[in-house]
Amino acid sequence: MVHSVSNYDRIKKNVAEELKSCRELLKALSLDVDRPEYGRDFKKFNEVVGFCEQVLRVVETWPQDREMTFLDCSCGKSYLSFALNYILSKRFSIETFFYGVDFNPDLIERCNQIKDALGIENMQFVHAKIIEVLPDRPIDIVIALHACDTATDETIAKGIKLGAKYIMVVPCCENQIRSRLKNGHPLVELTAFGLLRYRFADILTEALRSQFLIGAGYSVNLVEIVPPKCTPKNLMIVARRKKGNKKFSMDGYDRLNEMFHTEFVLKDYFHGYDMNQEINTHLEKF
Ligand SMILES: C[S@@+](CC[C@H](N)C(=O)[O-])C[C@H]1O[C@@H](n2cnc3c(N)ncnc32)[C@H](O)[C@@H]1O
Repeated sequence: MVHSVSNYDRIKKNVAEELKSCRELLKALSLDVDRPEYGRDFKKFNEVVGFCEQVLRVVETWPQDREMTFLDCSCGKSYLSFALNYILSKRFSIETFFYGVDFNPDLIERCNQIKDALGIENMQFVHAKIIEVLPDRPIDIVIALHACDTATDETIAKGIKLGAKYIMVVPCCENQIRSRLKNGHPLVELTAFGLLRYRFADILTEALRSQFLIGAGYSVNLVEIVPPKCTPKNLMIVARRKKGNKKFSMDGYDRLNEMFHTEFVLKDYFHGYDMNQEINTHLEKF
């Protein structure tokens, strides 16, 4: 389906209005969206709306008779999953199930309280590190909104290992690469400037993540979920597993990684893991 930019703005506006009209949900989430435009809650609300809009594009193409299971990595208070669950249940007849995982036990307890208060049955919250979570259902879509630092990499690694059809992440801080961008790489004259190193590290990190996903058999699209004035952390990596592609190649990732001497963390999650063999074997089950 082809959408114009204004159509997407309209979709976002509709999602925002739909969520705002559900006072019970906003109250349970303690989200005050009537505060001045750049208040913390309002900012989070806009990020959630922008994320929902991207997921809606995927759901539009989903067979209505097939259940869709989400894994929300570093869910925090799970604003995103609660909002998505609400919007999808209003708009589609698809059965959905949501897992949320976070290593902060207080946040998981809070998510469970909200779930109970709203009488929701299709959600389960797990206290664990992302990379260690073992959902008992096949996962269709892995999502993560502002998973700090390498938690985004754990999310991507987890999504690949689970054979998720979609991996949709809006990364947060990119600290790992920044400290490694000082010497011996081809753009050192550029990254010698602190501010430019900071910005370049963001770009390089997202390029490495995207190349890794491509190497693991996904097609990748990069989009902005909200305007940069709302948050500079607005880039989303949308990765869709290619059908029938069972040959994995990390050449693009390796070239980039070597060029900038980054020793990027993503491959560390696959030590002793034969991607070709293990992912293919795993996918056959689903
Ligand atoms: C910036 S918050 C974002 C929370 C939520 N996604 C949101 O947008 O409101 C990051 C969350 O990631 C969790 N986290 C960080 N690293 C993690 C890891 N390796 N495994 C599980 N949770 C993690 C933290 O406990 C925190 O709740």
